[in-house]
Amino acid sequence: MASAYIYMQLPESDEVVTLGRLDINRGIGAFVYSPTYVNQRGWVPDPIRYPLRGEFHEGITTNSGIPGFIRDAAPDGWGQRVLAKAAGSDLDAIGYLMKSTNHDRTGNLMVGTTKTPPRGVGQAGMANITSLEDFIAFADNIQSQFPRQIDVVARQALRQRSSLGGARPKCTLRRGEQLILAKPRDRHDDFDVPAMEYACMSFAQVKGLNVAKVELHRGSKNVLLVDRFDRIAQDGRFRRIPMLSALTLLDSDWQAPERNRWRYAAVADEMRRRQVPLSDLHELYKRMCFNALVGNDDDHPKNHAIIWQGNAWRLSPMYDVVPTLDGESPASLSMEVGSSGRRVTRENMLSHAKHFDLSIEQAESVLDEVAGWEAELITHYQQHLAGDELMLASQAIGAFRLRE
Ligand SMILES: Nc1ncnc2c1ncn2[C@@H]1O[C@H](COP(=O)(O)OP(=O)(O)OP(=O)(O)O)[C@@H](O)[C@H]1O
Ligand SMILES: [Mg+2]
Repeated sequence: MASAYIYMQLPESDEVVTLGRLDINRGIGAFVYSPTYVNQRGWVPDPIRYPLRGEFHEGITTNSGIPGFIRDAAPDGWGQRVLAKAAGSDLDAIGYLMKSTNHDRTGNLMVGTTKTPPRGVGQAGMANITSLEDFIAFADNIQSQFPRQIDVVARQALRQRSSLGGARPKCTLRRGEQLILAKPRDRHDDFDVPAMEYACMSFAQVKGLNVAKVELHRGSKNVLLVDRFDRIAQDGRFRRIPMLSALTLLDSDWQAPERNRWRYAAVADEMRRRQVPLSDLHELYKRMCFNALVGNDDDHPKNHAIIWQGNAWRLSPMYDVVPTLDGESPASLSMEVGSSGRRVTRENMLSHAKHFDLSIEQAESVLDEVAGWEAELITHYQQHLAGDELMLASQAIGAFRLRE
């Protein structure tokens, strides 16, 4: 049996407490809250699936025994790749959780082996932005040891981005009072994905969507720099903001997903269950339309999240939105957009309007508004992209599907 203590920085506080302990035995997890915390009746990340109580939550089978709200603090494909290389072999799920560093986990959870959190846990380790070029070289070196995987049909292989689960290089760097997620162009990328992501996200920002702040660093390779929205600087330290992925909201498993649970409307329902303001449901609907507009079919539930802000769960700023590299607008998104599944059609996208607190008429006007951005989007792409990237981003545009 393997065990890990789970620490948590309390919301809007510097205090780090022991939230509980996770035991995993042959892929089955059991989580128990710390008795002290149970007595304090404190805040917990997922009171719906893991209510605060003295008894164990047993028989956890998702994510190899890891509850979703803890799995959100575990490394993704890239983090696992780096750890596996350091260890000389693959690790199991709890191994990845324990071996990854506390300073850059998403959200406010941390992990350790002692009952009480070590002093200053998670505060050290953040590299300064000046080391960006070092990171580019490091990432390049790691990626050079993995096969390109593009030998059958290039297009098919490129589509593996999402199934690898965020396997592209990324790291968190510090720039003064801001933490930044840096995503360099991967040596396996045939195209300048950071430039495409920048063009797409900056357009969303222009159109008034709530987007993580992005910048394109032009160095030896282009690097997308994204402000981390799950940290705020406070007296020279970084305070952690609780964050839950939509994958956790849907109680789904990344490795063995029941894909019929991957539904925008279900994410909206779960947000409502956690009292997220209705305006955020409207925003989620608009993002779904935006993904259809720009042809981002990598819009899986790890690419949506809620964060705890101002004493409430709110939809996080938008992140990881990139036009497909397929050379045509995707006919389907990653999650179901309506009662007929994942297919992007006007009728389908209207069918779940009420889950987003929208009447059919209101939903139609959002669809029309977003489809109406097409000409401006093309102009925006022309300003920020050229060559193959401009061609691919333009080919991905699916405005016509929102009108049909
Ligand atoms: N601005 C941000 N602030 C905080 N956390 C973020 C931010 N952007 C992304 N994340 C977290 O980091 C994870 C990985 O980031 P992202 O989705 O952008 O990369 P990726 O999935 O590796 O990208 P790609 O699909 O291009 O390979 C996300 O799932 C999310 O949990
Ligand atoms: Mg992602």
